[in-house]
Amino acid sequence: MKLRGTSRINEQGHLEIGGCDTVELAHRFGTPLYVMDETMIRRRIRSFVEAFEKTGLSYRMAYASKAFSTLAMCRLVAEEGLHLDVVSDGELYTALKAGFPPERIYFHGNNKTLDELVMALDAGIGRFVADNFTELALLDQLARDRGRRVKVILRTTPGVEAHTHHYIQTGQEDSKFGFDLESGQVHQALKQCLTSEGLEPEGFHCHIGSQIFESDGFRLAVRKMAALAAECRQSLGFRTRILNLGGGFGIRYNEKDQPMPVDHYIAAIAEEVRQGFAGGELPQIWLEPGRSIVGEAGTTLYRVGTVKEIPGLRKYVAVDGGMNDNPRPALYHASYEASLANRAGEEPAETVSIAGKLCESGDMLIWDIPLPRVNTGDLLAVSCTGAYNYSMANNYNRLRRPAVVFVRDGEASEVVRRETLEDLIRNDRVPGRMGAPESLMPSE
Ligand code: LLP
Repeated sequence: MKLRGTSRINEQGHLEIGGCDTVELAHRFGTPLYVMDETMIRRRIRSFVEAFEKTGLSYRMAYASKAFSTLAMCRLVAEEGLHLDVVSDGELYTALKAGFPPERIYFHGNNKTLDELVMALDAGIGRFVADNFTELALLDQLARDRGRRVKVILRTTPGVEAHTHHYIQTGQEDSKFGFDLESGQVHQALKQCLTSEGLEPEGFHCHIGSQIFESDGFRLAVRKMAALAAECRQSLGFRTRILNLGGGFGIRYNEKDQPMPVDHYIAAIAEEVRQGFAGGELPQIWLEPGRSIVGEAGTTLYRVGTVKEIPGLRKYVAVDGGMNDNPRPALYHASYEASLANRAGEEPAETVSIAGKLCESGDMLIWDIPLPRVNTGDLLAVSCTGAYNYSMANNYNRLRRPAVVFVRDGEASEVVRRETLEDLIRNDRVPGRMGAPESLMPSE
């Protein structure tokens, strides 16, 4: 397994992350445990910023909080000076409670509810990425009611298909997201904004997919958006001030994944922007990655429980979590690497498959992975779980969601505490007509 970020194998042969021994982390915080390498997250953010600085373009970096959103993460993102993309009242609430400056927050989503729009407006968030005509009408009305003009960026579907898993493609024309480019919907939406009292259009947005390894899709998207900008300039006299190209930069889950360094993507985008907007004023370029900021910085620690060997067939090693803390293998056939955190220096001795503990055959975290001989009680570290793991975790089988710790320079801080059994029933209610628990006891 590849050692990432600040990870290393220490003198005890244990996996260490952020200067913290993972065996000790597991004792202190329990398992399963999400461990986030804070230094690595900050480095990833800075690599985007530095890459942009090299291009000389005007830019804004945002973080897509759907990948991993907690109070501490929002605080970190704010400290690093980024903007924040939220897609729900829950993500917005988290950001506001973390003290994230509202003007640096913007709201995405194909079905923002009235309550969400009102909450965001009243919090004074910076802008909305408007997705459809229903939203435009509502937003205009709400803005006028408040005697305000609201900044909007129009989300477009540029018809670019990124080379990635089908379910996470969002740039193709047949999509629930955004205004369609081909049929002229974007143009119509812009016209509507320009004639409205409540809306102030600033530019366009597109997001062509996720876990993308090449720059071709981004280049094509820029060309399409530049053509759109030119056309809107000519026909409506509109100057595109912001061009937001979304997120989607791939990361290395295993050796088959070969993402480009961040500065390669950004150099390609910059080159295409300069060509596409040649002769005119360049828009400010925005990016909003999620996975590539946090994905490789996360490691999940599990305790090995039962081991089942089917002679000549397979050895199943079961851990104390599974598809509730990481639904990605079940949802997307995502593949992960793992190591034995308590014997991290040992050579592989057998091939095993890692099963979760949930009551479903599909609850397999990793198939056929080489590991040192695995025993009950060992500590398994699954790497690259920082994005879309905690944020997609659930209570299936009434399992408790794990704690999250940030590690940095030898210090471990719990940023989300483990759910308790009490948490699981906190919102449950029993109808009065069902009587008291005593009535369930057999009467003598
Ligand atoms: N912007 C927009 C409009 C998006 O829809 C997304 C992701 C992002 C930015 C961030 O993309 P990223 O840089 O993280 O690839 N649950 C799936 C991923 C869904 C992505 C949805 N949109 C997974 O676990 O792979």
